[in-house]
Amino acid sequence: MVRLSEIIAKNRATARQIQAKSLLERARKELSPEGAKETASAKSTAYEVISPDAEGRGQQGAETSEVRISPLVLKEAKVVSDKEDLELYAETVSFMKEILQGSGNDGFIDTARITALTDKIVGQLSLNNGKLYSLAFTGDWQDEDHLPCHSVNVCILSIEVGLGLGYSRPELIELGISALLHDIGMAEYAHISNQTEKLTAEEYSQVKEHTDRGLQILKKNGNLSERALQVSRQHHMRLDYSGYPEEPEAESIDEYSRIVGLADVYQAMVHPRPYRDRFLPLEAMREILATKKAFEPRLIKTLIEKIGVYPIGSLVELNTKEMAEVIELNHSVHLRPVAKFRIIRDSDGGKLKLNKLLDMTARTGINIKKVMLRKR
Ligand SMILES: [Fe+2]
Ligand SMILES: [Fe+2]
Repeated sequence: MVRLSEIIAKNRATARQIQAKSLLERARKELSPEGAKETASAKSTAYEVISPDAEGRGQQGAETSEVRISPLVLKEAKVVSDKEDLELYAETVSFMKEILQGSGNDGFIDTARITALTDKIVGQLSLNNGKLYSLAFTGDWQDEDHLPCHSVNVCILSIEVGLGLGYSRPELIELGISALLHDIGMAEYAHISNQTEKLTAEEYSQVKEHTDRGLQILKKNGNLSERALQVSRQHHMRLDYSGYPEEPEAESIDEYSRIVGLADVYQAMVHPRPYRDRFLPLEAMREILATKKAFEPRLIKTLIEKIGVYPIGSLVELNTKEMAEVIELNHSVHLRPVAKFRIIRDSDGGKLKLNKLLDMTARTGINIKKVMLRKR
């Protein structure tokens, strides 16, 4: 006999799926202004040498901004192991830590190293390396590492959006470097922004200075592209003029700055801060949709398409009462956005001794019942 509680649970799971689907559909409908171009699918030839796109692919500023990065050749590239992903993530965080610590003295930025690290990240994300991407959500850190981790996470999310837009390899590297350095001016104000109490008006106006300060620091490092400099100054500017510093015309905000600004807000929402808990990815997307005039619709749509409503690394409870981690997404079937789960606990809450994967392409009766917050 079917129990009422099972029917209710099933309906809830269906409602959640419909909610996820309607969010995507809403995004499509609301975020498809005239002129919105179709996002190109990510390039699968990630390791070819790609020269800068002569057509500029419609990017703002692309016609005037030279991509100042030597093309790199990675002939034997492949998706690396989870351990190597963690090492790449940790190495980039510690590199950013050094840069941010030195930024107060307008410290030197090793552009060869930042390019090499970003190239590795771009390479792995281009190959759909889910582990590295999931670290942007699950990568844990101590409070003193907040800013370097935030910078690396924004870099990963920005590159994902760039991939969704069909950016070339040099563009992805330039965008990634710009994202890594977007908050370089923030190191001097981190003690204010990390405090648990609400900022006073005076403190908030001090924190707002970090964008001009960032530009000042990056200008002293002559090897960075003009667009990376713009991102440090523009990443809090918004199309509806709600951001800062005041922009004369929203149209003049560089596309990299718009992408990094969106990734920055999303990243901040899905991580906890001393004064608030984290948002679930679905809630964060909903918040961003509610402020859609601040961001370019085409970019929100791309972010949703690339990240999904259940990003890789999400912890969920299934209708089978098993606890599972999302390990692969299904970008083409929006009603069933997850392609693969790793079961972590069985239906009685017991830890699994063996690795159990659940391929959703062949399962129709299994649904997500609840999304869980990861413990910090
Ligand atoms: Fe910032
Ligand atoms: Fe930021």
